[in-house]
Amino acid sequence: DMGAEEQAFQARIDEGIKIEAKDWMPDAYRKTLIRQISQHAHSEIVGQLPEGNWVTRAPTLKRKSILLAKIQDEAGHGLYLYSAAETLGVSRDELLAALHSGKAKYSSIFNYPTLSWADMGAIGWLVDGSAIINQIPLCRCSYGPYARAMIRVCKEESFHARQGYDIMMSLCKGTPAQKAMAQDALNRWWWPSLMMFGPSDAASVNSAQSAQWRIKLFSNDELRQRMVDQTVPQIEYLGLTVPDPDLKFNAETGHYEFGEIDWSEFNNVLKGNGPCNRERLQTRVKAYEDGAWFRDALVAYADKQAAVKAA
Ligand code: ACO
Repeated sequence: DMGAEEQAFQARIDEGIKIEAKDWMPDAYRKTLIRQISQHAHSEIVGQLPEGNWVTRAPTLKRKSILLAKIQDEAGHGLYLYSAAETLGVSRDELLAALHSGKAKYSSIFNYPTLSWADMGAIGWLVDGSAIINQIPLCRCSYGPYARAMIRVCKEESFHARQGYDIMMSLCKGTPAQKAMAQDALNRWWWPSLMMFGPSDAASVNSAQSAQWRIKLFSNDELRQRMVDQTVPQIEYLGLTVPDPDLKFNAETGHYEFGEIDWSEFNNVLKGNGPCNRERLQTRVKAYEDGAWFRDALVAYADKQAAVKAA
C-alpha cells in the first residue's frame, strides 16, 4: 500500500541513487536515519571517555600524542555525524538533550571500564576494528550526507585500529607480565566487541526495513562473523588465546564458529545497567554544563556582531 511518491522513492533507492537532504522521503525513513545517525554521533563522543582515562598515563610521549590525536578524531566524527543528522531537520540541542537525559542510546561498548594500558590497544584494535567493519558498508548507504561522512571516518578508523594493534604487538613482544596484560585486555574486550554489532538477526527489530532502504547492506550477524573471521588470525599472530572455548574453524564453510553471546549482559547494558553507564552520562552532562559559559560567550559575540552590522 505504498503511495506513488513512496514507490518512486523506493525505486530510486533500488537503483542505487543517493537520497539528499532536500529530497522527498517517507517520515519513517527520516526517523530511522535520525535515530541511527544520532546514536552513532553519541557513540563517538561518549567513546572519547574510556580512552581519555589513559592520556595522562600513556607510557611514552609518542604513545601519548598518538592517543590524543585518536581521541580528537573521535570528537571530529561526532561533529560530522551531528551535522549529518541536522540535515534531516533535527537540532543538535535536541539530540544532546536526549543524550544527557538518558533517553538516547549510544554504543554498549563504551560502558566498560579501561583498567590497564593494554585496554588502549584492545580498544583501537577490536572496537575501532569492529567499527570499520560496520561502517565501510555505510559509505554506500542510501542517504548521501551520512554515506559521505563515513568515508573520512573510515580512513581515520583504520589509523586507530593500526595504532591499537601496534600497542598489542609491543606488549606481546614484551615481558611475561606485559603479555599477560594484553591477554587480560583481550579477555575483557572480546565479547563486548562482538556485541557492538547489535542483537542477532532474529532479534533485530529494525533490520528488515533498514535493509529495504539500503541503510543496512549487511545484517548484524553477517558483520559479526566477518569480525571474528578477520580477528582470530590476528589473535593467533599475537600468540594470545581467544577467550571462547567453543571457537572452531569450519573448513567446509571457511568460517569460524563461535560460542553463544551472553545477550542478558548486552540487554542489561542497553537498559543503563552496564559497569560504567552512570559514570559516562554524568561525565558528559558535567562537560556540557561546564561549557555553558563558552556557548553563552559565542551567542553574545554573535549578537554583538549582528548589532554592529545593523547599525
Ligand atoms: N549498543 C547499543 N544499542 C544497540 C547496539 C549496541 N551495540 N546494537 C543495537 N542497539 C540497539 C539499536 O539501536 C536498536 O535500538 P532502537 O530501536 O531503540 O534505536 C535496538 O538495539 C535493536 O537493534 P537493531 O534492530 O539491530 O538496530 P539497528 O538496525 O539500528 O542496528 C546497528 C544496530 C548495527 C548498531 C546500527 O544502528 C548501525 O549500524 N549504526 C551505525 C554505527 C554505530 O552507531 N556505531 C557506533 C559504535 S562504533 C563507534 O562509534 C566507534
